[in-house]
Amino acid sequence: MDFKKLMQPHLKNVRPYVPGKPIEELRRERNIEGEIIKLASNENPYQPLDEIKRAISEELDNINRYPNSGSHYLSLELSEKHGLEQGQIFVGNGSNEIIELLVRAFVKPDENVMYPYPSFIAYPLIVHQAGVGELKVPLSDYILDLEAMRSAVNQKTKMVFICNPNNPTGTYVPEGDVVAFLMGIREDIIVVFDEAYYEYVTAEDYPDSKKLLERFKNIVILRTFSKVHSLSGVRAGYAMADAELVTILHMVRQPFNVNRLAQAAARAALRHSDDLGTRIDENNSERSRIADDLRELGFTVPDSQTNFLLAVPEGPDRNIVDRLMDLGIIVRSAAPWGLGVESFRVSIGTPAENDRFLEGLRDVLSR
Ligand SMILES: Cc1ncc(COP(=O)(O)O)c(C=O)c1O
Repeated sequence: MDFKKLMQPHLKNVRPYVPGKPIEELRRERNIEGEIIKLASNENPYQPLDEIKRAISEELDNINRYPNSGSHYLSLELSEKHGLEQGQIFVGNGSNEIIELLVRAFVKPDENVMYPYPSFIAYPLIVHQAGVGELKVPLSDYILDLEAMRSAVNQKTKMVFICNPNNPTGTYVPEGDVVAFLMGIREDIIVVFDEAYYEYVTAEDYPDSKKLLERFKNIVILRTFSKVHSLSGVRAGYAMADAELVTILHMVRQPFNVNRLAQAAARAALRHSDDLGTRIDENNSERSRIADDLRELGFTVPDSQTNFLLAVPEGPDRNIVDRLMDLGIIVRSAAPWGLGVESFRVSIGTPAENDRFLEGLRDVLSR
């Protein structure tokens, strides 16, 4: 049977997501015996805080029961933390799920979704899966070009993703530009601020999107527990938006979209979010150290406000990403983003991991 002929025709555009190479897969493929470090998926190199792991262990006693539908207690606690109404919070199985629900709930087949490019790989994936139109607007000098995005909006534009800071470049757009963008487009366009790396940002002119939500009802803010809270593996993220928009998201979600362990972990994470300062400071100082070294080695490295860096080399192909893997160091090739075959994105690890990455890179470049 030719299932490709049975498939919905719009799915021909879908390119399945390729995750960062798992450690065990690399070990098997290349027979690597020593320690492998994975700096490919912008994960946190540290375990979640002990209190979070304890909350997960305690919740194990309840996993014969379905989770709370609608993540009632977690959304209540999030609303208290953010000074919003509970109805303005929507919790998802990672912020990824919320991106998908937003497109499913609001974008009709003849309408389009605008996103910057290169940016988070889930945007094209979800748009192609949904079979709706897309408008890709190139970055300018590795930064979102909000002016070009504003000019590219057309009558059929329903939703715009502003990845801030942007993955894979780590760059951000300031509040003034964001406000000018919002004022320059129709108010029936839903503008999604994807702030997955929010907690790492130190730039003073970074938008206060929660404040903007009071003024612009068409904003959705996405945050996640995957990065700073070290919970990539349990899947929890949330949206803050107008309560009416949130009601519509509830209409398109699965009844038990956020599992028990994720709800328990995220609630504990919220209670201890003030304890992460040292880890954030370490990330940010390690980030500047690695950026300096990469620049010294001849790479172009955009200024990053996140837990990763983009490195774009000049000169001949040296098969950098592949040769790093031979040394047991996994970074993410940025070639699929069209940033050059040799470019890569590297997540910030522990200081020891970062030392090993820099040492490995020097080794690769010197041969
Ligand atoms: C920009 C951006 N948004 C969202 C996510 C997904 O986060 P989650 O794990 O909450 O689905 C990521 C993860 O890498 C990301 O880079």
